[in-house]
Amino acid sequence: MNRHTDDAPHPIYLDCDTGIDDSLALAYLLSSADVDLVGVGTVSGNTDAAQAARNSLALLELAGRTDVPVAIGAHDPLNGRYDGGVPEIHGVNGIGGVQIADAERRPERESAAELLIRLSHTHAGALRIVTVGPLTNLALALAMDPTLPTRIVAVTSMGGAALAPGNVTAVAEANIWNDPEAAQLTLSAGWPLTLVPLDVTMENRLDEADRQALLDSRDPLARALGQMLDHYFDFYLPEYGVRSCALHDPLAAAIAVGGVRATRNPAVPVEVDTSAGPGRGQVICDLRGQRLGQRDSPGATVRVVLATDRSLGAHLVGSITGATQLA
Ligand code: BDR
Ligand code: CA
Repeated sequence: MNRHTDDAPHPIYLDCDTGIDDSLALAYLLSSADVDLVGVGTVSGNTDAAQAARNSLALLELAGRTDVPVAIGAHDPLNGRYDGGVPEIHGVNGIGGVQIADAERRPERESAAELLIRLSHTHAGALRIVTVGPLTNLALALAMDPTLPTRIVAVTSMGGAALAPGNVTAVAEANIWNDPEAAQLTLSAGWPLTLVPLDVTMENRLDEADRQALLDSRDPLARALGQMLDHYFDFYLPEYGVRSCALHDPLAAAIAVGGVRATRNPAVPVEVDTSAGPGRGQVICDLRGQRLGQRDSPGATVRVVLATDRSLGAHLVGSITGATQLA
């Protein structure tokens, strides 16, 4: 077991559907001195799990981080079949059509769930999980080993829409929509989980000046991210009225690491709608009684982030390009 001391970097397992904003989250975690990225698992969402692993390996190689294991996770959600992803948002290859040479390394032989369980033993009592895709791998890992939560410090998940509208249906956010059954199992597992919903991720953005700063960087990963954002900005133009994008996944990464802090994050009962009706995929957060200030519900293990201490954009670009260091 690796005992964790406070000044040692935090071991983090990242579960992702790599993805343009997933790539930003990966780059951010790699740029943080406080983080020891010990593994990456992939899942189908923005693109399929195998392509997400290909993208993750290629990005890690660009960053010179050939030490981080990448495992392919679930192709299909717990109930049903993968729907083919969202090339209109993330491009045909998940990274905006940007061509990056395939890594020399191959994915691990184990599945993402197996990698997570293995890492939870290696880093027992220290491992943090960051999820920025559908929660299928976590649900599978919990089914394979129900003791998993006892070895995990914290889970931070981008997903859901508490008071904001959804982005797939009126009420459902994509990561939850893609596997509501897995989300319900993960959110009810009893581990300390911080949900980073659309309420805050849609309010954090990158704009053309940020993209140019990435393109101007000497760092090859930063430049690749700047290229990918061209596609992502096109998708978000009708939403924001200017070329820019939301920062879903990097915000979850930054909150997990403490680069951005939640200033309103009540612990409340949450429930995922797994019905076949119009509410399917909604994360129902019981936010009653919060008007006079934050009130945590006794026994609730899920915190829902509703406000943060600062915007992520400049900090994210600074960290990735090396222009600033994380505090
Ligand atoms: C989430 O869905 C995916 O498209 C993004 O990568 C992000 O994880 C936003 O709803
Ligand atoms: Ca994602």
